[in-house]
Amino acid sequence: MSTLDQSFVNNSSWKPDLFKGKVAFVTGGAGTICRVQTEALVLLGANAVILGRNVAKTEKAAEEIQALRPGAKVLGLGNVDVRDVQSIKKAVEKTVQELGRIDFVIAGAAGNFLSDFNHLSTNAFKSVVSIDLLGSFNTAKATFEEVRKTKGAYLFVSATLHYYGVPLQTHVGAAKAGVDALSNALAVELGPVGVRSNCIAPGMISGTEGFARLATGTNLDQRVPLQRFGTTRDIAEATVYLFSPAASYVSGTIEVVDGGAWHIGGFANEVYPQLLIQQNGPDSDSKL
Ligand code: COA
Repeated sequence: MSTLDQSFVNNSSWKPDLFKGKVAFVTGGAGTICRVQTEALVLLGANAVILGRNVAKTEKAAEEIQALRPGAKVLGLGNVDVRDVQSIKKAVEKTVQELGRIDFVIAGAAGNFLSDFNHLSTNAFKSVVSIDLLGSFNTAKATFEEVRKTKGAYLFVSATLHYYGVPLQTHVGAAKAGVDALSNALAVELGPVGVRSNCIAPGMISGTEGFARLATGTNLDQRVPLQRFGTTRDIAEATVYLFSPAASYVSGTIEVVDGGAWHIGGFANEVYPQLLIQQNGPDSDSKL
């Protein structure tokens, strides 16, 4: 079910046809955060393609997003793994065939699980870096020819984990640090051909898989300076801004949408440090 509806247009700061004629290409678009980003763009006039590994989930999400605005066209392309650049390239061809162009790219496909360093295998580390970092590179690479034509924009979905050390997230923190670096470099290299690149870094966003895994503990919302957890709509609002003409001079930035939370030094939850001593200490088995 979609999170946003027409009230997003009626009661928001944005003009209804802000993105009329534009096309968004979204990896991970059937997932919680990227789906709502797509909903906002479509409600404001864009057409879109969402990509994912799971065919049924991706097609169903596309149908539901398409139903948000009469006349909208939203394709759901399953069987796309961002680790395989050829599968993204095929999706780009299909997008151009069906929707004519690509203006906005959201590189949002991500993999995550909790694991302490000692039990995080080389292959597990590689899997997450391959999805989050290599997958973001592949997405930019496969879409570039089209984005160059429209003088479009990239948005990479990052995190705040790597601003400090978050326990059990070595793999994700390392991957997202790379994503930030990738976006910054693209902003510098592609600015001269009229293409912008930015990151969005969500904090604790309720209803997401990451939230369910990491937001353990009581009264955590009160540790957020703005005194609440984030919503997927908060991320969608910032996404609209970053793709809108209001951000036409904004490139190479990392838009943190976390209620100010990372400035208070992170959320070491109750596993710290006892679980880590247990898992990483001399009496624990190691996994290679
Ligand atoms: N803890 C420790 N290691 C784990 C793990 C966990 N919870 N889950 C998977 N791994 C390891 C596997 O054991 C394997 O390593 P090994 O070969 O040394 O045993 C490695 O990760 C790859 O696992 P595999 O299941 O083959 O990878 P995959 O490519 O099919 O899946 C993942 C990728 C692991 C990231 C999987 O969690 C995934 O597909 N996630 C997508 C959904 C998601 O995480 N969304 C959240 C977005 S924030």
